[in-house]
Amino acid sequence: MKKLLLIATSIAILTGLAVYTYSITKSESGAKNLQVQDYCNNYNGENGCKSGTQTDNPPDWENRRWQTPPRGNPMWKESYQDMNVLVGHSQVIYDKSLTSATVNFNTITKDPNAQVQYTFGNNAPQKSNSFKVDTSITELTLKAEIVDSNGKVTATLVIDPQQFVWSHPAVNQPSNYKNGQKGAIVEMFGWPYKDVEQECESLGKMGWMGVKVFPSQEAIFRFDGCENGELNPWYFVYQPVSYRQHARMGTRDELISMINTCRKYNVRVYADAVVNHMTGNGNDAFPDHCSGSNYWGGKNTTAGSPFYTQGYAYQPWNITGQRPGNENPAVPYGPLDFHCERSLNSWSDGFILNYGWLSGLCDLNTEQDNVRQRIADYFTDLMSLGFSGIRIDAAKHISPENLAAIFAKFKANMGGQFPVDFIAYLEVIIGGEKDLLECQNNYYDYAVNFNNLMKQQGLTDSEIYSIKIWSSDYPKEFPICGYWVIPSERFAVENDCHDDQFPGSSSRDMGDKGSVLVKERNEDLHRHFEVELFTRTDGNWQIKLVLSSYSFINDGFGFPDGYSDCALCSTDACKQQCTHSVPKQTAYNPNSCGYDCFENGAWAPNRYTRVHRDLSIVKAMRQWMGLNANVPNSDLGLPQNCQAK
Ligand SMILES: *[C@@H]1O[C@H](CO)[C@@H](O)[C@H](O)[C@H]1NC(C)=O
Ligand SMILES: *[C@@H]1O[C@H](CO)[C@@H](O)[C@H](O)[C@H]1NC(C)=O
Repeated sequence: MKKLLLIATSIAILTGLAVYTYSITKSESGAKNLQVQDYCNNYNGENGCKSGTQTDNPPDWENRRWQTPPRGNPMWKESYQDMNVLVGHSQVIYDKSLTSATVNFNTITKDPNAQVQYTFGNNAPQKSNSFKVDTSITELTLKAEIVDSNGKVTATLVIDPQQFVWSHPAVNQPSNYKNGQKGAIVEMFGWPYKDVEQECESLGKMGWMGVKVFPSQEAIFRFDGCENGELNPWYFVYQPVSYRQHARMGTRDELISMINTCRKYNVRVYADAVVNHMTGNGNDAFPDHCSGSNYWGGKNTTAGSPFYTQGYAYQPWNITGQRPGNENPAVPYGPLDFHCERSLNSWSDGFILNYGWLSGLCDLNTEQDNVRQRIADYFTDLMSLGFSGIRIDAAKHISPENLAAIFAKFKANMGGQFPVDFIAYLEVIIGGEKDLLECQNNYYDYAVNFNNLMKQQGLTDSEIYSIKIWSSDYPKEFPICGYWVIPSERFAVENDCHDDQFPGSSSRDMGDKGSVLVKERNEDLHRHFEVELFTRTDGNWQIKLVLSSYSFINDGFGFPDGYSDCALCSTDACKQQCTHSVPKQTAYNPNSCGYDCFENGAWAPNRYTRVHRDLSIVKAMRQWMGLNANVPNSDLGLPQNCQAK
C-alpha cells in the first residue's frame, strides 16, 4: 500500500485545505463589522448526506437555486447578465458526415411559464430553440430572451458564440500517425496559449502529434487575496466554475487562434476536461464565509460568472432567503446536479470513490441523465472548438458506468460515431487498490468492466480502443496486474507528469525506473527515461506523453506566466499575504534546445523546461513513429546548435 496515493489526483490536497484556511485581515473583517467567533456557525455537516446510502440532495434544495443577484442589486456584475432568472447552454448535434448540425439552445427559466425567444446569428428571433447549420456557418451567435405578454423583453442571455468541427483547418499528418491514434503529445504545463501557438510550427516539424493544454474552462482566479502565500496557485485551474472557455492561459479567442495555428502546422490540440467536480466547497461568489476563526469573502473567476457552493456559509443568502446551494448558472448546474456532501475517506470502496467529494470539491451527480448529457455536450463543444481529444481529470472519481454513459451521449452528439482521430485518456490512478480498479472484474474496474459497460452503451471496438487509461503504474509497476488485463495499446504512458512535481501530491512512486525533472534535477537521468519511453518494447503503447513544465521558485505553486506575481495584488490584504511571488517568464523561446532549467550545469529556478525540444528525445520519438530521425535541425524547427546527447 502506498500512503501517498491517498492524495493522488490532479488536485493537490491543498486544493481543499487551502480553501478553509484562507482568512482576511482584521481591517477587512472590521470593515464588515462582524464578530467572526459569534457568527461562525456554518451549515457544514448539517448540509451533508444524512445517511450512508443517501447520494442526492433533497428535492426541496431546488429552492436554493437562482442565487445570482439581479440587475440593480449592488452585488450584480455585468457578466452575471440575467442569470437570476434565465440560464442556458448550446448543445450541438452533428449529422453523420459532420457537415451539418442542429444547435439547440437549451434554457432554464426561474418562472417555469416564462416565454423565451431565441436569436441565432443575424436571423429574426424565433420561438423554437433549435437551429440548423451547415458548413457555410463557421461561428454562430446565440441570444435568448424572456418576453412578457406584451412582447417586451425582460431578461437576456447571450452565450459565447458556437464554433463547429468544420470551422478549423484540417490536420494532415502522415499515415504513421494512424489518423491521430498513434503519436506523442507534449503536455505544456503553465504555458499560455499565445506561447503554445508560437511553438506549434516547431512542434509540427519535430513530429509531435499534438499538444495538451491545461484546463481551458473558466476557473477561480483572483487578485484580491492569496492562499498559503500564493497568488493564483496552479491548482486553481482544476477548480472550474463553468464550461466557458476563458482560462488563465488565455481567452477563448486566444484558444481558438492557438488551435487553428497548431492545426495549420499539423499539430493536434488536446483538452484537459475537469468534469468530476466544480470548485472547492466554500470557494464561490458568496460574500461571507467562515470556518473556525477564519473568515473569507467571495472569489472571482477568469470570466466573472456567478458561482455558489453550499458550505462555510453562516447565514442564508439574501437573494433566495435560503441557505446557499451549489449552483453554476453559466453551465448551468443547480443544487440537485450535485451529490450530497460526503467526504472522500476511502480509497478501496468504489461507492466512496464515486460519491465522495474529492478534497472538498463539489461533486457532480453523474448518475443524473441531465448531468451526463451536459458533460457530453461539453466534450462535443471541445470538438467544435477544434480539439482532437481529451484528458479526463479525476476520472477515477466518476464511476465506470457513468463514464460509459457519458461517452455514449458524446457519440450520439457526434453523428453516431466518434471522430476518427478522437482519443481520450483517463486519469485513473491505480495503487494499493489495483484489484478494485483494474485487476478484478468488478463494478468499479476500468478494465474489463469498463469495456463491457462501453459495449453495452453501443461503443464499437475501435471507439473503445480510442479511450485510454493513463498508466499510473508506468514505469515501475506495469502491468500492474502482472499481465495485460486489457491490451497495452489501451494505456497512455508518460515519465513525469505535472502532478508528480508537487510535494504531497506525488501520484506515483517511480523508484529508479523514472525521474521527475524538477525533483531530481538530473538532466542526463531525465533524458535517459524520456528516450527510454520511446525505445522500450515491453508494451505496445500508442499514445506517449512528455511534460514540458517549469522549475519552481520559492517552492511556490504559481505558474511563471505572470499571474502569480505578487505585484499584481489589488488589495493591501493580498500584498501582505503574498509571500511566494513568481515573476513572469516567457514560455516560448525559439533558441531553446530543451533543458533550460540548468545554467552552466547548475539548477536554475523559475525557468520553463521545454523538454520536448531536446534533440535526443525528438530523435527517439521520431524513430518510434517511423519518421526519419536523421534530418537537419532546421527541418525540425530547432536551432543549429542543438545537439543530441
Ligand atoms: C473579476 O474577473 C473579471 C473577469 O476576469 C474581471 O473583469 C473583473 O475585473 C474581476 N473583478 C475583480 C474585482 O477583480
Ligand atoms: C445581502 O448579503 C450581503 C452579503 O452578506 C450583504 O453584503 C448585503 O448587504 C445584503 N443585502 C441586503 C439587502 O441585506
